[in-house]
This record gives sequence, structure tokens and C-alpha cells, in this order.
Amino acid sequence: PRKIILDCDPGHDDAIAMMLALASPELEVLGVTVVHGNVSLARTVRNALVVRELLGAEVPIYAGADRPLVRERISAEAVHGVSGLDGPRLSEPQGKPEQQHAVSFIIETVLAHPGEVTLVPTGPLTNLALALRLEPKIAGLIPQIVLMGGSLDTGNWTPAAEFNILCDPHAARIVFESGIPIVMMGLNLTHQVIATPRRVERFRALGSRVGEVTAQLLEFFREHHVTRYGWEGAALHDPCTVAYLIRPELFKTQAMYVAIETNEGLNFGRTVCDRWGVTQGVAAGHTGFAGNLGQPANAQVGLAVDAEGL
Ligand code: BDR
Ligand code: CA
Repeated sequence: PRKIILDCDPGHDDAIAMMLALASPELEVLGVTVVHGNVSLARTVRNALVVRELLGAEVPIYAGADRPLVRERISAEAVHGVSGLDGPRLSEPQGKPEQQHAVSFIIETVLAHPGEVTLVPTGPLTNLALALRLEPKIAGLIPQIVLMGGSLDTGNWTPAAEFNILCDPHAARIVFESGIPIVMMGLNLTHQVIATPRRVERFRALGSRVGEVTAQLLEFFREHHVTRYGWEGAALHDPCTVAYLIRPELFKTQAMYVAIETNEGLNFGRTVCDRWGVTQGVAAGHTGFAGNLGQPANAQVGLAVDAEGL
């Protein structure tokens, strides 16, 4: 199985990404590292522990960064509820996170398995950016990062920016400029994967506690998507990363150069995606992006997915 570290901020869809990863024999989850994001770090760590206990899984959980590198912290209680995992009645966790910091776990694990550990971030990129700054060597030892964040087109937290990238644009910039091959599952892709009532019922019909909790998580998560977008159900953002590792043939991606806007204007936190290769020199007369001319692709950006297959 492929070795991965899941770096997340649970979060309804993070919880489901965790379930998918831990249930898949194709993947070996070496650890779950947790970051601030949807709610405070204390709550995202608690939620990761809750999910682990719900599943009866044994994976170690590490607490990481409790705030972004530069900007002030933002959070998404409006989408995920005050706990970050509102909806089902879930018992408080008995277990604890490991003593080791998530960032030091990431560094140690990548150094221990050079070229073998795929990183799967489904929250703000603070932990990963800190790891790259603390031990720059790891950049050459990580074969791939498959992340949920950004968008080929519009944002969801501002017109330009997607939540995970907006949470810590400076960290995202460090990661996108690291030279590590990136697969980016942005909103343009994840908005194709809707947990419709029919799909939610299939979880419930499993007749297990996990199936029932998953259905209830998706029913709570749905509310925001109905109100904001008028959709039939929630978008399953984060599980797209894990699904890509298990069944890449379900996805269509395109290689392109992606830059992160870190200026604090209208586009703060935007993933500026060069879909048509205009930084490759063909449009050398264009202004505004000139500093980035000649940039090779740094990401495979998800374009389409077989949602039913997923
Ligand atoms: C992302 O933001 C979070 O609320 C979700 O968990 C997902 O990772 C979508 O923009
Ligand atoms: Ca998330």
C-alpha cells in the first residue's frame, strides 16, 4: 500500500476523507496530522480523535499549528457548526493525541521513508509549510502532495479565494513554490461531487453505526450548501484527494502553473491558475503577470471527476 500522511482540520468532509483513507487497503495511513482551520486546533484535534474512536482505528494523531503563519486566524463555524462536526451525537473521545508535534512527525516520517510518503492535506497548509521551512531537505523526498484547496475559477470564502488557501495564503505559497509535484483538487472539481439525498441514504442503508453517523454528518453539512448554492446536498471536497489516490482513473487533470496571491487585496488567497499556458512565454507581451513568465507547471489541477464512481 501507498504510505500517506493525512493533514486535516475536521470538519465534516475531512472526517469522511479520514474514513475513506483508513478503510482503504490501497493506503497505509502513517499518521493523521491536525491543523487549525474549520474550527480552532483544540476542536479539530478533538474531532480527529472522535472519528478515530468511531472507526475503532489505531492510527496516531498529532496536533500541529494552531494559527496561520502571518494573517489572523479565520474559521468556518457557519458551515461546520460550533464543534466543527455538528450533526450526529458523538461521544467525547477517550484517547489523546501523541506528544510529538505534527510538524516534527511529518519531517521525521518523510526522512525515515525517503521518496515514499505522499502528503494529503485537506485543510490550511500551515503544518506543511512549517515542515518545509524547518527541514528544507524534505522537499526532495516527498513524491507527491494531493491536496484539497483553491479553485480554477471562483472562490467560496471570497469571490476569489477558497477557504483552505485563504486560511493561510503564505503557507500555501510556500507549498506551491516547493517544487514538490502537486495534485490540486479545487472547488471547480469538488463541486461536482454532491452528496445527494439518494447517496446519503446509501450510507444509512449500510445499517452500521459509521454509516448512520456519516449520513447525519452529510445531512448537517448539506444545510449550508442548500442555503448558499441551492444544491441538493453538500459538496464532498476533501474525500476527492483520497479517492484520487485509490482510483486516479476517475479524474481528469491538467498540468499548469499555479501561483498563490499573497497581496492582501481583493484576490488575497486566490490560486491563480495558468490554464492556457500564458506564463510559458507565448504571451510575453502581457503585463501584470510578467514576473512569473516562463514558469513550468507545478500542479496537476483536477478538472473533472466521475462523481457516481467516486
Ligand atoms: C474546504 O474548506 C473546509 O470547510 C472543508 O473541510 C474543505 O477542506 C472547502 O473549501
Ligand atoms: Ca477540510
